[in-house]
Amino acid sequence: RSLLNLVRSLPKAELHLHIEGTLEPELMIEIAKRNGLLDSLSFHDANAARQAYLFKNLQGFLNIYYQGCNVLQHEQDFFDLTSAYLERAAVEGVIWAEIMFDPQAHTQRGVAFEAVVKGISRALTAASNSLGIHGCLIMNFMRDLGADAAQKMLDEALPFKHLITAVGLDSAEIGWPPSQFKAVYARAAHEGFKLVAHAGEEGPPDNIWAAVKDLRVSRIDHGIRCLEDEKLIHHLRDTQIPLTVCPISNEKLKVYEGQLSQKLRQLLTCNLVITLNADDPAYFGGYENVMAHPLQQSYC
Ligand code: ADE
Ligand code: ZN
Repeated sequence: RSLLNLVRSLPKAELHLHIEGTLEPELMIEIAKRNGLLDSLSFHDANAARQAYLFKNLQGFLNIYYQGCNVLQHEQDFFDLTSAYLERAAVEGVIWAEIMFDPQAHTQRGVAFEAVVKGISRALTAASNSLGIHGCLIMNFMRDLGADAAQKMLDEALPFKHLITAVGLDSAEIGWPPSQFKAVYARAAHEGFKLVAHAGEEGPPDNIWAAVKDLRVSRIDHGIRCLEDEKLIHHLRDTQIPLTVCPISNEKLKVYEGQLSQKLRQLLTCNLVITLNADDPAYFGGYENVMAHPLQQSYC
């Protein structure tokens, strides 16, 4: 208990968090009601929602996650979502949060890119002033929408470049190798964005190689499956490319067999740079498991 209290009291950095994955059922229902969308949800109260949060794999989770995203329509919705997360994170000692968002999950429903990015970044500015929690934004390309759609989203993002620090890659992994996104990553780098990508979550170690070699990322999100490739482990150790590991997410999405603690120990004994993160805490639990983490490993 005293160790838990100590960890709680330490300042922490959150480096892998999808803001849409912090949408708690209570807020989802409140926003759905005010947008007249309650009937679009497959559950009508928070308890029923939580009971539906049992996942077989990444895709099973994504289906529910994108359904939740659908209630978000206006800048105020993104502001409220982000403010609720930051308040909660500040209480838990997070002082730096790198917030990922999935613009395409919203723009493909007709929501303006501007409403999404302004709502999130306005909440971050407000929290910096009132709560002392600071951070930056990472805009993710959705892999399963393909490279052309990613290029289009990058075009849409350019007028808001000053609000966005990095680009990332997320959504379904199997069948969507990172190499397809080489050109859009090169352009994002040229525009001054930092580069990260989800890789080696459900997909094979080759995806981590491709993220490093083809996309030239400076950080891998998840990356847990590097443990299957000894050469890759050596490369990640030698280059000290960090992995933002999300153990509770991995467990809930059943991305590997065997024991979680054993995987973490393996990563540490290989001398890899790893950080512990929440991913989608409204769906997986685990806000409080964002562990202490030295700030110099922070990204922005
Ligand atoms: N989007 C939100 N959470 C994700 C995850 N764990 N993997 C890939 N895409 C995601
Ligand atoms: Zn993630």
